[in-house]
Amino acid sequence: MKVTVFGVGYVGLVQGAVLAEVGHKVVCVDVDQAKVDKLNQGGIPIYEPGLEPLVKQNVEAGRLSFTTDAKTGVEHGEVIFIAVGTPPDEDGSADLKYVLTVASTVAEHLNGHKIVVTKSTVPVGTADKVRATLGDKLSSLGKSPTFDVVSNPEFLKEGAAVNDCMRPDRIILGTDSALAQKKLRQLYAPFNRNHDKVIVMDVRSAELTKYAANCMLATKISFMNEMACLAEKFGADIENVRKGIGSDPRIGYQFIYPGCGYGGSCFPKDVQALVRSARAVGHDASILEAVEAVNYKQKEKLFGYIHQHFNGDLAGKTVAIWGLSFKPNTDDMREASSRVLMEQLWAAGARVQAYDPEAMEETQRIYGHRADLSLMGTKESALSGADMLVICTEWQVFRAPDFDLIKERLSNPVIFDGRNLFDPGQLAEQGFQYYAIGRGLSVQSISARQGGLPA
Ligand code: UDX
Repeated sequence: MKVTVFGVGYVGLVQGAVLAEVGHKVVCVDVDQAKVDKLNQGGIPIYEPGLEPLVKQNVEAGRLSFTTDAKTGVEHGEVIFIAVGTPPDEDGSADLKYVLTVASTVAEHLNGHKIVVTKSTVPVGTADKVRATLGDKLSSLGKSPTFDVVSNPEFLKEGAAVNDCMRPDRIILGTDSALAQKKLRQLYAPFNRNHDKVIVMDVRSAELTKYAANCMLATKISFMNEMACLAEKFGADIENVRKGIGSDPRIGYQFIYPGCGYGGSCFPKDVQALVRSARAVGHDASILEAVEAVNYKQKEKLFGYIHQHFNGDLAGKTVAIWGLSFKPNTDDMREASSRVLMEQLWAAGARVQAYDPEAMEETQRIYGHRADLSLMGTKESALSGADMLVICTEWQVFRAPDFDLIKERLSNPVIFDGRNLFDPGQLAEQGFQYYAIGRGLSVQSISARQGGLPA
């Protein structure tokens, strides 16, 4: 089938490559000429495991190509995906200008019946706006409308995007058109072999499904982070609590890992956008507001521990940070907890000496060259001469470090762990002061200063 994808960000690029891999002929359109040139040579603008070879082999096989020419793109695809960005505008609502510009461009070059599919995460009602934009543009051009609009949200996770797209849990089709449903079932047939993963529903429910999924996951995380704060106050260990509650299949083990807050391009933006959309229809989404507020506080947690430990005296201190990306296996720094921490440390006069397996280039791009930021070639070199180690991201390479070496290189044997990677008992035995999220030892260190644990 001939497919066009507008937007080669995470969602569009992965979707385009995966559709080409199963044999569809895919043209991806983007306004960024440099990106398009790089992609046509088989290079990719982001780090995503497995994506580069997939793009390369499909470009070479002639099934995948990239262009800035919208006309070529519109004329090529019988199915046209809109996968452009929906950045938050000033008040946190999703900004639809790119989505609606694509809709208008599609109308301009329409050369037959097209199925226009919104793939980006878009507020409920967007498909109707896309339909109206297409219709208005077509009538202003004197063309007769012949298109369907479908909502088909994407659920891929960064770092596992290719696999998520190849083996989706579900394929949501929001449409009232029998033709569109038939065509999209054909398109997705290679991903829908063993049991039917297609769930067909009305357009608005499909749009809300995407927000509800992300907001539910963000809620689980903020809930756990709130429990972690309580565990600290009560002198309990959140890791025991996590195992205790996760064993109930109604709760489950996934997405209940406490930490220094969730980041990325989806959860923060989608929670905010749903709060704004709710407000616009007269509903106060108080659970979601709390989810956001808890996450905001959680991102300041590591700095809080550090500040207390050093009695606020951070000027001139060097902080080794392991992990900068918002989660492992990505170079994405959007809304990363490490950014909140680094900015607080800099404001307090400390220096950062950081290592991340993939996100250092991106960090440099964001912060430029500054005297209080050194990006180091290895995790070991980040420790040299530092006064403490802080872990912001749970990359595999940080899970079993050489603790003797850490101790040797740090001027103080103290670790602040935002991802609960280590056993507090073992670290205490090895002579470390160990602060983790919602765990016994960090409670003891902090409350010792505050006058002891509650009875
Ligand atoms: C998320 C959704 O999982 C995906 O379905 C959707 O399409 C896009 O948004 P992504 O943002 O790539 O994907 O990452 P995810 O693995 O979900 O992690 C998001 C954030 O939550 C990370 O910062 C991660 O560290 C944090 N997290 C996750 C926790 O703090 N605790 C957990 O238990 C799980």
